[in-house]
Amino acid sequence: MSVLLDVRGVSKSFSGRRVLGPVSFTLAPGEFCAVTGPSGSGKSTFLNLSGFLDTPDTGEIRFAGETVPAGDVRTVTRLRREKIGMIFQSVFLLPQRSVLENVLFRARYSGIPREKFMARALALLDQLGLAERSGQKARLLSGGEAQRVAIARALLTDPALLLADEPTGNLDAESAEEVMRALSDCAARGIGVLLVTHNPALLHHVHTHVECREGHFTEKREPGGNAR
Ligand SMILES: Nc1ncnc2c1ncn2[C@@H]1O[C@H](COP(=O)(O)OP(=O)(O)OP(=O)(O)O)[C@@H](O)[C@H]1O
Ligand SMILES: [Mg+2]
Repeated sequence: MSVLLDVRGVSKSFSGRRVLGPVSFTLAPGEFCAVTGPSGSGKSTFLNLSGFLDTPDTGEIRFAGETVPAGDVRTVTRLRREKIGMIFQSVFLLPQRSVLENVLFRARYSGIPREKFMARALALLDQLGLAERSGQKARLLSGGEAQRVAIARALLTDPALLLADEPTGNLDAESAEEVMRALSDCAARGIGVLLVTHNPALLHHVHTHVECREGHFTEKREPGGNAR
């Protein structure tokens, strides 16, 4: 089994207090994994480390077999720009811009003209059931639609890993299901998807499930346990 994300003995402290680890964790391409656990248990800390938004105090994180040394800004920037998409509870769309412009926004620092991304942006909006909304201002979208636009934006650069921190936290049950289906589709296309959620009703979508308590992980479900 190939490994996309390989977290080895990683720990993190804030102000001298350890909030995570040491934890080890792997995610395969096409795997959909959920991390659950109480508030303050270290889930977002783990997700931020996995997305190289923050650096661990101990251990290392490899991405697609590549060691990413702490402080290697060039590698981290490249990975974050091209290979890792992130979505959050707040979608951070530009409300006065169109849905399509919001998706294309992801291309702004790529150095590649955004017209080159146009066909992919439209295809992603189509996949996510938003083709007819592409010209509409983002402020007119429902919460579930907005989160699916955020997914399209995250996918614009064709990332290998999608990190999602409570993406359904603001949504009603039906919209949450739509977002979960969109994330499942991402995994079915080979993207590794790592989801933090508080909602046990959504766990039937995932392949693997890890519970985080006081910064330590317990594997709740083995790969292949469900939904594959
Ligand atoms: N940048 C930071 N500086 C100081 N403390 C932090 C920082 N980030 C997180 N913490 C602390 O680390 C602990 C874990 O936080 P984290 O955000 O990872 O929890 P969580 O499991 O995501 O919680 P929630 O479910 O409420 O989002 C908390 O006690 C939090 O206050
Ligand atoms: Mg959190």
